[in-house]
Amino acid sequence: MSAEASIYLETERLELIPLAERFADEMYDGLQSPELYEYIADSPPPSPEWLRERYRRLETGRSSDSSELWLNWLVREKTTRRFVGHVQATVKARSALVAYLLFLKAGGAGYAREAVAGMLLSLERDYGVREFVATVHAQNQRSIRLLERLGFTRRSFTKNAEIIRGEPTDEYRYVLNATLRRVDRTDRGSSPFPTRR
Ligand SMILES: CC(C)(COP(=O)(O)OP(=O)(O)OC[C@H]1O[C@@H](n2cnc3c(N)ncnc32)[C@H](O)[C@@H]1OP(=O)(O)O)[C@@H](O)C(=O)NCCC(=O)NCCS
Repeated sequence: MSAEASIYLETERLELIPLAERFADEMYDGLQSPELYEYIADSPPPSPEWLRERYRRLETGRSSDSSELWLNWLVREKTTRRFVGHVQATVKARSALVAYLLFLKAGGAGYAREAVAGMLLSLERDYGVREFVATVHAQNQRSIRLLERLGFTRRSFTKNAEIIRGEPTDEYRYVLNATLRRVDRTDRGSSPFPTRR
């Protein structure tokens, strides 16, 4: 199976392009900023070859036992055609665990919100997802703000949930029910939700 498990999406200012090995070199520089990894277990890719190999593996789109769908999109700015980050979802039994990363240069413009909102709509509409889940480092304020703006609510707190670079870290679990999003959407003026190509 190819990464076409993820479908091409567009929002007002962004394209969400199914992750593919051929884009690895264009993503590499943006992924280098150490600041992006302060609250997540990942690290900057050590080399372009490493990133190409990682993307090649992710292109399969599924866990080895096929019980999970791994959906990965690279986010590209329409006006400049530059990549600005990525969004991802692990889908299992109508529930999606979502994650996102925006390059430093692209922060503070509402791009994360626009890209994640686009992904959520597609997950609901195209993949039958009914519940969205995100886990976030308890001090990751930008991510918490993003989740709350998208309508997620905090459900639980886990002390020492994960070891990040040798340090135990606390995390919140946020949840958004797809039905609630449908109600919320009717209140919005300009919609960040995507069209399919
Ligand atoms: C988490 C992360 C994606 C948030 O990025 P972000 O740029 O803050 O998120 P948004 O797209 O929601 O942008 C919001 C900001 O853009 C501003 N903005 C500007 N123009 C905007 C527009 N047209 N629409 C919406 N917001 C806009 C908002 O006012 C807001 O600024 P504020 O937070 O200072 O009030 C980013 O910090 C990141 O990649 N972190 C590293 C990876 C990471 O931790 N991922 C999360 C793991 S759980």
